[in-house]
Amino acid sequence: MEVLVLPTAADVARRAAEVVIEGLGAARRDEPVLGLATGSSPLGLYAELAAAVRAGRLDLTRARGFALDEYVGLPVGHPQSYREVLLREVCGPLGLDPGRLDVPDGSGRDEDELVAGAADYERRIAAAGGVDVQILGIGANGHLGFNEPGSALSSRTRVKRLSDRTRHDNARFFTGPEGVPTHCVTQGLGTVLAARRLVLVASGPAKADAVAAALEGPLSASCPASVLQWHADATAVLDEAAAARLR
Ligand code: F6R
Repeated sequence: MEVLVLPTAADVARRAAEVVIEGLGAARRDEPVLGLATGSSPLGLYAELAAAVRAGRLDLTRARGFALDEYVGLPVGHPQSYREVLLREVCGPLGLDPGRLDVPDGSGRDEDELVAGAADYERRIAAAGGVDVQILGIGANGHLGFNEPGSALSSRTRVKRLSDRTRHDNARFFTGPEGVPTHCVTQGLGTVLAARRLVLVASGPAKADAVAAALEGPLSASCPASVLQWHADATAVLDEAAAARLR
């Protein structure tokens, strides 16, 4: 794995954008596929990609986007559903056609519908030719997507219960921890590993322990992001605070 440590979060965003642009170019596909994380971590990166689009250095009009995960049970159009977040933060600013954005379906009325939707999501990724560049953030507990500690390393898209820690961490997007959905549909770790290139962005001291465990700890379901070590083309772009616990 390539590990790039830069002074600030703004530097991380700029450098990660270059890695993503280079990765999409290297894919040499008419309709490249970008894997999209949500949360705070990639927002600066998306802003840099939007600047590259405006400058004519990147064209995503024929690209497809696949989200990593989605909450279960939020009403259609809820501003914190990841579909809405990606429409707002990515499709508009980056010129990605909303019709080419795919998000796991968290609207299933029961377990059977959610399971069927998850299997369909895997089929849609495969039909698009797989993900060329997957953008990733990391949870403070080491989660990747919403694959919480204990997730199987070969897992595929499925329904998961969110940990109390994650619901607490994401409370800032809702009215409080109890407003955060209890379940999600997330790409599995095996799904993430199938992307051709992985780009992890992390900044700030709250991520330092998780980053150290993911990049230098044992490959283990206890730290789902440690699967990055297993990927042949993964780049971690970190600021100094997030990299502080690396040896
Ligand atoms: C969301 C996702 C999560 C986040 C992680 C970090 O699509 O994949 O793994 O990347 O929860 O969230 P932030 O960036 O808000 O600290």
